[in-house]
Amino acid sequence: MAGDQGARLLAISDLHIGHPENRAIVEALHPQTPGDWLLVAGDVADTVADVEWALGLLADRFAKVVWAPGNHELWTPPGDPVTLRGVARYEHLVQRCRALGVVTPEDPYPVWTGVGGPVLVAPLFLLYDHSWRPEGLDTPEAALAEAHRVGVVCTDEYLLHPDPYPSRSAWCAARLALTERRLAERDGALPTVLVNHYPLVREPTRVLRYPIFAQWCGTEATADWHLRFDAAAVVYGHLHIPRTTWHDGVRFEEVSVGYPREWRQRPTPPGRLRRILPPPPA
Ligand SMILES: [Fe+2]
Ligand SMILES: [Fe+2]
Repeated sequence: MAGDQGARLLAISDLHIGHPENRAIVEALHPQTPGDWLLVAGDVADTVADVEWALGLLADRFAKVVWAPGNHELWTPPGDPVTLRGVARYEHLVQRCRALGVVTPEDPYPVWTGVGGPVLVAPLFLLYDHSWRPEGLDTPEAALAEAHRVGVVCTDEYLLHPDPYPSRSAWCAARLALTERRLAERDGALPTVLVNHYPLVREPTRVLRYPIFAQWCGTEATADWHLRFDAAAVVYGHLHIPRTTWHDGVRFEEVSVGYPREWRQRPTPPGRLRRILPPPPA
């Protein structure tokens, strides 16, 4: 199906379907041609049941759905009957996705052969490591202490458990090593579309209202991945600041829907799928 004339590689993220208005947005998402693929760059929902509902609905409609986890999928929120934490929770989500036919970061990277291809579509799970710190805060500990002092602390600190790793930063380091190896071993002839919940470069976080929050938004370790791994485009979310930016000539697409209080303020209606390939006209 991927070779269908006119098929598109589309993307969205941060569906946050715990909000009823956002659930309605997901119910209204449809492919534009039967061969369209959909990249979902994390923060589908907070509970496993909601994640499954949304990805299942999308997998029934799109020729292929590719998912990278956000921080919200990895929370263990009070009230979710699935009480798994950390790696066990992630692996459970991967199993549920596989049952739905959804591609995860643990699966072979699929090749998009439609217009704009062939490209290797690589969903990534990397987390963050507090390396994006304000000037003068030299350690992750100092950055976290400052965040607590000013009262801008990501809920991950309370709900995203790294078990069995000692910290989210340690989990991030393990994910970086594993993912870097897989990307380095890929068929080098193919460019990539990298799908990660977080931007791979720090620049998009410079417009955050609270710059101290950038420590929960990615890692310095991926600063050159868009070049090293020959990215035709990078797809991310998390910031809830949907836009297109260019870094070293590579197109970065922030594709988030975000919370109703956020999308209500925007001039464009929520839930428009972003076209990744073929590239939109300049
Ligand atoms: Fe989000
Ligand atoms: Fe997020």
